[in-house]
Amino acid sequence: MHETSEFRIGLLGSGTVGGAFAELLEQRAVAIEAITGMRPVLAGTLTRSRGDFQEILDGSDLVVEVIGGIEPARDYVLRAMRAGRHVVSANKQLLSQYGEELWACARENGVQLRFEGAVAGVVPVIRVLQESLAAARVERIHGIVNGTTNYILSEMARTGASYADALGAAQRLGYAEADPTDDVTGRDAAAKMAILARLAYSTPVHLDQVVYEGIEHITAEDIGFARDFGLGLKLIGTAERVADGISVRVHPAFLYGNHPLASINGPFNAVTIESEAITEVTLSGPGAGGPQTASAVLGDVISAMIPPASTPETTEDLAVVNDVASAFYLHLEVADRPGVLAQVAEILGMQGASIRSVVQRGLGDNARLVMVMHPLRESNFYAAVQLIAQLDFMRAAPRAIRVIDEEFAA
Ligand SMILES: NC(=O)c1ccc[n+]([C@@H]2O[C@H](COP(=O)([O-])OP(=O)(O)OC[C@H]3O[C@@H](n4cnc5c(N)ncnc54)[C@H](OP(=O)(O)O)[C@@H]3O)[C@@H](O)[C@H]2O)c1
Repeated sequence: MHETSEFRIGLLGSGTVGGAFAELLEQRAVAIEAITGMRPVLAGTLTRSRGDFQEILDGSDLVVEVIGGIEPARDYVLRAMRAGRHVVSANKQLLSQYGEELWACARENGVQLRFEGAVAGVVPVIRVLQESLAAARVERIHGIVNGTTNYILSEMARTGASYADALGAAQRLGYAEADPTDDVTGRDAAAKMAILARLAYSTPVHLDQVVYEGIEHITAEDIGFARDFGLGLKLIGTAERVADGISVRVHPAFLYGNHPLASINGPFNAVTIESEAITEVTLSGPGAGGPQTASAVLGDVISAMIPPASTPETTEDLAVVNDVASAFYLHLEVADRPGVLAQVAEILGMQGASIRSVVQRGLGDNARLVMVMHPLRESNFYAAVQLIAQLDFMRAAPRAIRVIDEEFAA
């Protein structure tokens, strides 16, 4: 540590978040000095074309990593902590795959590793899980943790646009990258859910253990039909306790209108934390963006300037389970003839599935059966869907989307 009242920050990465961070730091330096008694200054900035990591490290009290990806970010973060520096990172890819190694390193070296900006942008969910709700036994987390897909699904619902058109609009507005693969496949949300599950359940959770499904196959028609049941579609991340351990997954899911996440539209993020002690807490706000994420990163820097803070301990060794119970929306394009519903219901019944609501729409070549099931084990449901797909009156492959079937007080 330096003996002056300066607090020196080494900045790794100067892109969308890094650039905004440098600007915000300059604007807020005086206010931060008033809070912490130390004046934060930039000790140096590393990009692909400028700066030297070792030099920046030597001149810093804390390192901010906003490069993204695994290497060289991982190497720099480890080297910084081994050199006794606190680290603030917004890198969900890195934390969801190398979190255990990084947290162990932080503990061994007595430094802080903070990462509020890695999940849900400026929404302070990491701090809430690690500190405010540290005493609560978290039963379940539901999150809309990817703004790009939430914008696309909101647009499809609002305008009836196709997936491709809504994605194009998201790209024009800067909500989606030129290559949106990580967002639309659910992988980005899966990384964030791995981090949240890790904190909520104090057990190691790796990105590879998160089952994820994206929104590429969603049609405006499904969204329209489901509206008649009072359902709206979101890409939902779930982390919950189940009988044999925990389940962590991301998939499109329908929500009833009174669910706290049902009203989160556009590029916003929100996370609902459920626990017996606290009932339910929902946090929401902008999920990404340079200035927004930079504000979360700078908040972490200020926290690190005023210790102490925790690194997550592993106190549990829970299994991550895949085959859980879910409710489903099922859309069947069928030939218009007698006995169709009875046959479908019989197959569903054989797998223990019971229908909560059903509508028949259209005639002749346009006939459809659309239904919402009560929760059942996913493997049973998909076994039934496979059998239904083979029936001779089916005109297209069945479409199934999960429904979050929870009652919340209005
Ligand atoms: N953008 C958001 O809204 C957002 C929100 C939440 C979290 N995050 C996370 O924040 C991190 C940064 O995202 P971003 O959007 O700011 O990325 P970005 O705009 O692509 O910026 C990345 C920065 O890192 C530098 N960099 C890349 N590879 C490097 C290397 N090998 N050595 C040194 N510098 C290197 C780049 O250098 P050049 O300038 O030379 O290209 C650039 O300055 C990621 O982990 C991301 O997941 C971003």
